[in-house]
Amino acid sequence: MSTTETFQLSVESAEFYESRFVPAIFAEWAPLVVDAARIRPGQAVLDVACGTGVVARAVADRLAGDGTVTGLDLNPGMLAVARRVRPDLDWRSGDVADLPFPDGTFDAVLCQMALMFFPDRPRALAEMARVTRRGGVVALVVPASLHEQPAYGPFVDMAARIAGPPAVSLLSTYWECGDLDELRWSMASAELDVIDARTYLGTARFGSPEELAVTEVEGSPLVERISGDEYRRIRDGAQDVLAPFTRPDGRVDAPLRGQVVAARTRLR
Ligand SMILES: C[S@@+](CC[C@H](N)C(=O)[O-])C[C@H]1O[C@@H](n2cnc3c(N)ncnc32)[C@H](O)[C@@H]1O
Repeated sequence: MSTTETFQLSVESAEFYESRFVPAIFAEWAPLVVDAARIRPGQAVLDVACGTGVVARAVADRLAGDGTVTGLDLNPGMLAVARRVRPDLDWRSGDVADLPFPDGTFDAVLCQMALMFFPDRPRALAEMARVTRRGGVVALVVPASLHEQPAYGPFVDMAARIAGPPAVSLLSTYWECGDLDELRWSMASAELDVIDARTYLGTARFGSPEELAVTEVEGSPLVERISGDEYRRIRDGAQDVLAPFTRPDGRVDAPLRGQVVAARTRLR
């Protein structure tokens, strides 16, 4: 399975992503990447692999009407939801490997929780650098490696024991770019000078262990590749592996480590 195929979701799945994944996981990271990129009014900003647009919306808040924000994604379902939520922003269909913009179009290019899905990451970074003006900023957020994840590590191990290789490959993609030193090296290889690289500890919030399991499985193509019995066993298994993160009221506060890296394009 290709990493591009990983996120070919329907509009219905994209609505599920917006209503469940975004508040539970992604919304928390958007202001951090906006801060890392030093976004300020007057700038032209691109949100690459924007999904349903949570980062583009955070950028729009920061620009406060002075500047432009464009969101680009490969998936029409994601873009349909992004447009529904914020019809006033500029949403474009496109592939990070071949961005449909001239050199130096943007002051800043942001990319949240998507680098790991790109089949050719060096090319993706080179394209992000190309469309950024000289001295502008490229900023990324990715989840830290699975071995650094106290809740998701045991969850993925449990799902893999039940569903085998499909679960490992589909649920492990998220954690593939999480090594901070490798990220720095990747940025430098794209002629980007790192100005900020930090690990943050966030929290993925869910109503129950089962809800985390449902969100993970139904937010990925795994849901189409496992039997009903395997899915039930993964939901049950989540109760055990997430017990240390389950509050007395049954809600789950799962720690989620992420890497936030910002770099400047070279002046010449
Ligand atoms: C986990 S979602 C993150 C979305 C958004 N940045 C957020 O924080 O909610 C990953 C996104 O990457 C997009 N994507 C994957 N490969 C892509 C590519 N080659 N070019 C553009 N977008 C891509 C998917 O369609 C999906 O919307």
